[in-house]
Amino acid sequence: MQQHERANFGSKLGAILAAAGSAVGLGNIWRFPFEAGNHGGAAFILIYLGCVFIFGLPIMIAEFVIGRRSKASTGKAYSVLAPGTSWKWVGYFGVLTGFLILGYYSVVAGWTLEYVFQAAIGGFSGKTPGDFVGMFNDFSKDPLRPLLWLFIFIALTHFVIVKGVKSGIEKSAKIMMPLLFVLIVLLAVCSVMLPGAWKGIEFLLKPDFSKVTSHVFLGAMGQAFFSLSLGMGCLSTYASYFSKDIRLGHTAMSVGLIDTCVSVLAGLVIFPAAFSVGIQPDAGPSLIFITLPNVFQQAFGDIPFLSYICAVAFYVLLALAALTSTISLHEVATAFLHEKFRFSRGKAARLISCSCLLIGIVASLSLGDWSEYRIASLTIFDALDFLTAKIMLPLGGMLAAIFVGWFLKRKIVRDEVTNNGLIKAPYYSAFMFILKYVAPIGISFIFINELGWLG
Ligand code: TRP
Repeated sequence: MQQHERANFGSKLGAILAAAGSAVGLGNIWRFPFEAGNHGGAAFILIYLGCVFIFGLPIMIAEFVIGRRSKASTGKAYSVLAPGTSWKWVGYFGVLTGFLILGYYSVVAGWTLEYVFQAAIGGFSGKTPGDFVGMFNDFSKDPLRPLLWLFIFIALTHFVIVKGVKSGIEKSAKIMMPLLFVLIVLLAVCSVMLPGAWKGIEFLLKPDFSKVTSHVFLGAMGQAFFSLSLGMGCLSTYASYFSKDIRLGHTAMSVGLIDTCVSVLAGLVIFPAAFSVGIQPDAGPSLIFITLPNVFQQAFGDIPFLSYICAVAFYVLLALAALTSTISLHEVATAFLHEKFRFSRGKAARLISCSCLLIGIVASLSLGDWSEYRIASLTIFDALDFLTAKIMLPLGGMLAAIFVGWFLKRKIVRDEVTNNGLIKAPYYSAFMFILKYVAPIGISFIFINELGWLG
C-alpha cells in the first residue's frame, strides 16, 4: 500500500475497538478454555495473566511503535526503520506466521458457521449432551462439510479485504464488540446457575500448583501472544493506521483489558457448563462446540424460543469475532505482497486466499481422513497450532522487543510513546527494561525449559 493511500482510523475509540476486534476472537472463546483445561485451570490462568502483563502489554506497545513510526505493514516496516539490515527477515517471518495461523484458524472459523446454521434450523433442540459429542465428531471428521464452510469463511474474509476495510473494520467493531460483551456476560450468568456448576467455578478459581510444569508456562505464553494478536506484526500493521494523537500505552492497556475480560468470561461460560453436563474440561478443540449448545438447551430449556435466539446470536457473534480476526491476519499477508511485489491488492488477496484455502483443507482433513499423518505425534492441525502459537509468535515477539529495546533510537521510541512529548508516559522506564531484558531473557528461558523437556 502506498503512503498516500494510507487512511487512519477515524477516532481513538475506533482504533481501540479495531485492535480489540483483531485480538478478541476464537483465541478467547475457543482456544483459551481448552488450553486452560489442558493445563490445570486456575494455575494456568494466573500464569497467563502474568504473561499478559509482563510480555504482552510491553510487546504490544513495541509493535505499535514499529507500525505507527514506519507507516507500513509489518512486511515493510523493518526495512523502513532499519534499511539495509537483516531485520527485514523479522517482518517476513511475521507474514509467514500469520499466513499459517490464518490457514488453520479459518477451519475453526468455518465450524462456527456450521453451528450458526445448525442453531438457525433448530438443530440443537431435544439433543442430549451425548448427542452433541456425536454431532461434533461426525461433523469435524466429515471429509466435505467442514471444507465447504472453510471455503465460505475464506471467501467472506476475501470479500472484505478486497473491498477495503477501513470503515468496515472500525464500524463493525463498534457494534459487535459491545454486543459480544453483553452476550457473554449473560451466558456466564446462565452457566454458573446450572446444577453442579460450582465444580467448574472451583476449577477456574482454585489453583493447583502441582500441575505446573514447563508446558504450562509455554502454553500460557503462547496463549497470551495468540490471544493478543502479538508476535507477527498484526497489531503493528493496524498501528500504521493510528493517527498522531493516539496514546499507545493507553490503547494497549484497553485492548489487553478487553481481551482478558472476554477470555475469563469465556472460562466462566464454558467450565461451569462443562462440569454441569459431565464433560471433561480437557476435551480439547471440541470443547466449546459441545458444551455451549448444552448451555443453551439446559439454561433456557423451559423457554425454547429463548434458547433458540441465544444460540443463533451467540454463534453469529462468534463467527463475526472470528471474521474481524481473520481480516487482520489476511491484511498483513495481502499488504506484504502488495508492497513488496507490487501486486494489485486484488491479485495479492486472491493469492493469499487460495493458498490459505489449501492449508485449511489439509488442516481440516487432518482431523478426519488424514489423521494418521502425524508430526511428532500431533495431527497437522495441532502441529500448526503448536508451531505458530508456541514457537513462532513468542519468537517474533521477542525479536520485536529486542528491536525496539536495543536497536531503535531511544528518541524515536520516546517520541512515539509520549506523542512527541505531548503526553506523559510514566511507564517508560519499566517498559524499556522489560523490552531490553525481561522479555528476551524470560522468553528464552521458557523455550530452553521446554526444549529440555522435548529432548
Ligand atoms: N487474536 C485473535 C484471537 O484471539 C487471533 C489473531 C488475529 C491472531 N490476529 C492474530 C493471533 C495475530 C496471532 C497473531 O482469536
